[in-house]
Amino acid sequence: MARIYVTRHLPGDAVDRLRAAHDVDVWPEDGPPPQDVLVEHAREADALLTMLTERIDAEFIQATQPLRGVANYAVGTDNVDLAACTDAGIPVGNTPDVLTDATADLAFALLLAAARRIRDADEAVRTGNWPTGSPGAFLGQDVAGATLGIVGYGRIGRATARRGEGFGMEIVQNSRSSGTTLDDVLERSDFVSLHAPLTPQTRGFIGERELALMKPTAILINTARGELVQTGALERALKDGTIAGAALDVTDPEPLPGDHPLLTAPNLTVLPHIGSATRTTRERMADMAAGNLLAALAGERMPYCANPEVYER
Ligand code: GLV
Ligand code: GLV
Repeated sequence: MARIYVTRHLPGDAVDRLRAAHDVDVWPEDGPPPQDVLVEHAREADALLTMLTERIDAEFIQATQPLRGVANYAVGTDNVDLAACTDAGIPVGNTPDVLTDATADLAFALLLAAARRIRDADEAVRTGNWPTGSPGAFLGQDVAGATLGIVGYGRIGRATARRGEGFGMEIVQNSRSSGTTLDDVLERSDFVSLHAPLTPQTRGFIGERELALMKPTAILINTARGELVQTGALERALKDGTIAGAALDVTDPEPLPGDHPLLTAPNLTVLPHIGSATRTTRERMADMAAGNLLAALAGERMPYCANPEVYER
């Protein structure tokens, strides 16, 4: 029987599955455990089930050795220093595929909401400003026939592209084999949807220059990572009309404080990082994370491992 520390309550019965075989401790609060509390618990544990909010860096690993596995409850692992985990012999699990459709759905929900000004129009109704018979009220943009630029053509990017095709959009994307550059995608698109992972190369790669390449009528959608976009540059681009709008499920920083200056920009929709938040998807993610931990603790390969090179050592 091993000891597992889980950093949040999870939907479904995944934690019960872990409890059937191991000694499981769950952080009881809704927010993340403070880093020192996490370190303290991790020191007592053989394995961890972590969220994106937990920072698993070299210092953490050094302080908490020897861990037999970390199962990250996300497809992204940018909160984890994978190389340091590999060096320390720690397999890191993630949850690919199961959240692809849910995240692509949310990207498309944001696209449609921004195109048709759903937030403003709903707000008008709630504040008693129903625009009676006014043909010029809440004019949005056509989606059919528009060009959707996909930046990052992985699983979620391709799933979003399929939705765009279903809505009659033309797709441009900048995968290596496409022959199209990021600049081309930015220049040609009416909607630009980001789906790239956060890496040293992509951190802040949408800045003032890139936003200026976009059409003044274009809308930026981000369901990937907030840090892909330079927040100050985006705020300015929205305020001075460099682009027409943005719809974000991810921000830099996260959480975005309610009085953050970005929120004073016009034509902006912001959601609190809920791309994978459907009941079924979140339960599947919990099952995958639990399966990864059970395998690691049984001395087997994690079925969904983000650093498979750890098994080649
Ligand atoms: C969510 O952002 C994830 O990486 O799963
Ligand atoms: C993430 O799963 C991606 O490949 O887009």
